[in-house]
Amino acid sequence: MSEIHKGLAGVVADTTAVSKVDPESNSLLYRGYPVQELATRGFEEVARLLWDGELPTAEELEGFRERERAGRALDDRVRRVVDELPLSAHPMDVVRTAVSVLGAVDEQAADHSRAAELAKAERLFAALPAVVGYAQRRRHGQDLPAPRDDLGYAANFLWTVTGEEPDEVATRTFETSLVLYAEHSFNASTFAARVVTSTLSDLHSAVTAAVGALKGPLHGGANEAVWTVFQEIGSAQGAAAWLAENLAAHRKVMGFGHRVYRHGDSRVPTMHAALRELATARGRTDVLDLYDALESEMLRAKDIRPNLDYPAGPAYHLLGLDTDVFTPVFVASRVVGWSAHVMEQRAANSLIRPLSAYDGPGLRHLPA
Ligand code: ACO
Repeated sequence: MSEIHKGLAGVVADTTAVSKVDPESNSLLYRGYPVQELATRGFEEVARLLWDGELPTAEELEGFRERERAGRALDDRVRRVVDELPLSAHPMDVVRTAVSVLGAVDEQAADHSRAAELAKAERLFAALPAVVGYAQRRRHGQDLPAPRDDLGYAANFLWTVTGEEPDEVATRTFETSLVLYAEHSFNASTFAARVVTSTLSDLHSAVTAAVGALKGPLHGGANEAVWTVFQEIGSAQGAAAWLAENLAAHRKVMGFGHRVYRHGDSRVPTMHAALRELATARGRTDVLDLYDALESEMLRAKDIRPNLDYPAGPAYHLLGLDTDVFTPVFVASRVVGWSAHVMEQRAANSLIRPLSAYDGPGLRHLPA
């Protein structure tokens, strides 16, 4: 029998020029640039880098920003479909449905040229904040506020979801998270997008599949699970007992561990610093105390370090997002990486179709 790589662990499935995750040096590069350096830039600029392979010129960036501002309104057809969903539907289900609708109505859906794929990726990028905002606001009986053309992508995104103009520290924290979440090589959702693309299916189908993969708590769903854990624990004093109980019950602690990084997630220090700034500005040092307490208990008990979801979850709560909207925000960021991978897969495609080793019953025949 051939060697089985359960969960494809350790398998190098293909090459990619989009990003490099190096667990040894604990680094993450987008198109060669360290993500920590990119976290000081605007998300629009990082999106262009991931798609185009190079930083945009000032003119290219302004052109993209204009197109992004023009595409911010919620499509009426998306609104009508979402309105048919129960208010209890998880916002990730709302987003997955909305992406699918956007694919069904996109006139370039079947055009797989690079120019068309880029145009579709840009449209999704611009459309998702309103989808995420609507997923949160409709449950509170609120409609979307009109998009704010005077605000950049990150600030308008927060405005769209919360209805409040964010201050500088809120915008900076949110933008940092968007940059850090945008891309991470062959993670489960990106790989799902590449598998779908490899059948010569369309970009929206690939992104819809990726949203489904991201929803699970072992992947993107962990950021909302982290805040649920913080609420359950309550305060720093409760961390040790909570952890002992959960580890004794063999439960995974959300926001800790990573398939690739063994010595800590390269994105955590940057996001942790952003969380610290935000929590301090909001007078919520209790959140930071709980963060530190659970992190050190986990390190002592299991020698396992936090991943990006650990600082992002509490930050999103402090930014006024509903807990189950955290993962949809991750979608709005990761759509950049997914679409970059769709274009890369398409440019040098080979159908992704691994083998399996059969371990069911041997040959048998139906009774005569
Ligand atoms: N809590 C408790 N124990 C853990 C955790 C955790 N978060 N992560 C790993 N372990 C333990 C496992 O129990 C296992 O221990 P054992 O050998 O004694 O049974 C060992 O570490 C190896 O764990 P695996 O799950 O086999 O490692 P894998 O590489 O498959 O897991 C994963 C990676 C899925 C991310 C895992 O660490 C996990 O479930 N973490 C919690 C979910 C999470 O935070 N996901 C977010 C991922 S990052 C992102 O999407 C931005």
